Amino acid sequence: MFISRRGFAVTITGAEGCEFRLSNLTVAVLGAGKIGSIMARSFSDCGVHVIATARRKERIERLRMQGFEATSDNVHAVKKASVVFISVKPYQYPALARQIGSHVAGKPVVSVMAGIPLRLLRKTLPGAEVYRAMPNLNAAVKRSVTGLVVPKNAQYREIIKSLLSCMGSVYELPEQLIDAWTAVAGSGPAIIAEFIDSMILAALAVGIPRDLAYDAVLESIIGTAEYLRTRPVHPAQLRDEVTTPGGTTIMALKVIEGKGMKSALIDAVERATARARKLAKEIEESIEEQYENTNSSSV
Ligand SMILES: NC(=O)c1ccc[n+]([C@@H]2O[C@H](COP(=O)([O-])OP(=O)(O)OC[C@H]3O[C@@H](n4cnc5c(N)ncnc54)[C@H](OP(=O)(O)O)[C@@H]3O)[C@@H](O)[C@H]2O)c1
Repeated sequence: MFISRRGFAVTITGAEGCEFRLSNLTVAVLGAGKIGSIMARSFSDCGVHVIATARRKERIERLRMQGFEATSDNVHAVKKASVVFISVKPYQYPALARQIGSHVAGKPVVSVMAGIPLRLLRKTLPGAEVYRAMPNLNAAVKRSVTGLVVPKNAQYREIIKSLLSCMGSVYELPEQLIDAWTAVAGSGPAIIAEFIDSMILAALAVGIPRDLAYDAVLESIIGTAEYLRTRPVHPAQLRDEVTTPGGTTIMALKVIEGKGMKSALIDAVERATARARKLAKEIEESIEEQYENTNSSSV
C-alpha cells in the first residue's frame, strides 16, 4: 500500500494497484461537537466530503457556516456515507445506535467514544466493520497521536488509517491498551501544558519578561522534541550532552531529582490509566443496560 499527498488530496494505491482518492469519499461524522468538528475539518482539508450531524439547531447552523453539509438526520448521513465516524458522548450512544443500527451493515464505522469496547459496538451495529480510535486535542493543529484498534480481517484498514492521518499520526494498538493510550496521549497535552506553565513561572521568577518567557519555553519544548524525533538520541543522552560537570544544569537536575518529578509523572499516568479503566468499565455496564432497556421497550 502506498499513500501519497498532493497538496491536501490523498491518493491510496492498494496492493492490487487499484487507486482511490479520499476526495471521492463521503464520510459521516455523527455527533460533530468538540472532537467531531475537529475531525470534520481535518477530513474536509484532505478533500473528503463530510456530512456532520448534531441535535441542536444552533450547532447544525454553526457546522453549515463552517462549510459542512450538516443535518440532525443520522440515518440520512449514514446512508449517504461510505465511512461513518461516531463522536457522541458515550451516554448518548444507545439512542444513536438504535437509530442507525439497521443501516450500517457492510460499512466501516469508527468510534472515538471512550469506554465502549468493540464487542459492544459490534452488538449494537450489526454487520458493520467496527474500529475504535482515540485522537487527542492536538488534532486541531493536525498533530494528533491517534491510537487505532483494528478489527480482525479488516477490509477497510488503509482507508481508515489514511482518513485518521488527516489529523496527524496514527498508531495501531491492541484493544487492551486503549485506556492507557487515553491516559498518555489523551491526558498528555494537559500534563505537558502544566509543565509549560511551570517553566514559564520559573522564567518569571528569575526575571525574564512574560512574553519572552512564553516564547523561550515553547520554542525549547518544540526544539527538544524535534531534536529527539530526528536524531537517534535517547532523552538521557540529550540530557548528558547539556550537563557540564559542576555547571548550571546539574544544579537544576539535582533539585528535580530531589523533588521526585519523574516518579510524580509516572504515578500521574498510572493513576490516569486506572481512572480510564474504571470509567470504561462503568460506561460499558451502563451502555449495555441502556441498550437492552431501549431495545426491549421498543419491541
Ligand atoms: N474532546 C476530546 O478531546 C476527545 C478526544 C478523544 C475522544 N473523545 C470522545 O469523543 C466523544 C465526544 O466528545 P466531545 O468532547 O466532542 O463531546 P461534545 O462536544 O459534547 O460533542 C458531542 C456531540 O454529539 C452530538 N450528539 C449527541 N447525540 C446525538 C445524536 N443522537 N445525533 C447527532 N448528534 C448527537 C451533540 O450535539 P448537540 O450539541 O446538538 O447536542 C454534540 O455536538 C466522547 O465520547 C469522547 O469520549 C473526545
